[in-house]
Amino acid sequence: MPPSVAADDAPSEQQDAPPPPPATEATRREPDTAPEQDRERAQTPKVKTENLSFWYDEGDTQALDDITMAIQPNEVTAFIGPSGCGKSTLLRCFNRMNDLVQGTQMEGRVLVDGEDIYQKADPIMVRRRVGMVFQKPNPFPKSIRQNILWGARINGFTGDEDALVERSLRQAAIWDEVNDRLDASAYGLSGGQQQRLCIARALAVRPDVILMDEPTSALDPQAAAKVEETITELKKRYTIVIVTHNMQQASRISDATAFMYLGWLVEMSHTEKLFTRPEHQRTEDYITGRFG
Ligand SMILES: Nc1ncnc2c1ncn2[C@@H]1O[C@H](COP(=O)(O)OP(=O)(O)OP(=O)(O)O)[C@@H](O)[C@H]1O
Ligand SMILES: [Mg+2]
Repeated sequence: MPPSVAADDAPSEQQDAPPPPPATEATRREPDTAPEQDRERAQTPKVKTENLSFWYDEGDTQALDDITMAIQPNEVTAFIGPSGCGKSTLLRCFNRMNDLVQGTQMEGRVLVDGEDIYQKADPIMVRRRVGMVFQKPNPFPKSIRQNILWGARINGFTGDEDALVERSLRQAAIWDEVNDRLDASAYGLSGGQQQRLCIARALAVRPDVILMDEPTSALDPQAAAKVEETITELKKRYTIVIVTHNMQQASRISDATAFMYLGWLVEMSHTEKLFTRPEHQRTEDYITGRFG
């Protein structure tokens, strides 16, 4: 879909105007999608936002503008877009992490399994259901075992701790590398191992959704590949939302991709469609490296 020279060069009004509203659930499906896939995507979304807007600095900085989107269960959804477009802010709205930032305002709704998480829900419970893994691996200065058990104990876990440690580490694909040194400090692990430990720690409280904000950007390619493999394995049980600046990573591991720009959701669709047949010029410019 090469742009015309005029459209590419001219600083047209169109280019600077807000993009058209994002495709609706109905329009974002491909017309030629196989019926089976269609049925699959038609199920109740795991996370849904409705007209979500968000401001920092007592309303002076708008970070999100009227975002309506649906995250499907047992899929990996990638958020892409230039720095400052609101990816991390949107991710943090999904588990009320932004509540911890002073001077913020929000409009619209965020639903998890159809329930508005900003209404009656307890933020601590929301964060148990919707876990988070950050850009920089951040294990606690404790043993590998204690890292896993910490959150579970806070959440009142009284079951078999050894089984929980093993299950969490296995799911995060790091058990084989650490099972002989569970009482050693987590700081003795490599960066990639620490990140998988942080994934295991997030899994230990049995979340439904795992949010990952650039989880591999601090890792070398080999460690990043391990984490990517882990993510692909995890989507069988969990719903995963990942922010990434790495287009190859988004196209390799995600099922759906959302492209954001200046707080808007420009478009969201099946990853393959977004990367091969984007609907908006701005998306094409971004994914082909023309800006951002
Ligand atoms: N704690 C904060 N206080 C004030 N403004 C903030 C805060 N966090 C983010 N912002 C602003 O909100 C907007 C969106 O930021 P956000 O961190 O969500 O972007 P991003 O897409 O994750 O960027 P990056 O790719 O650089 O991580 C930016 O204008 C940013 O400066
Ligand atoms: Mg960010």
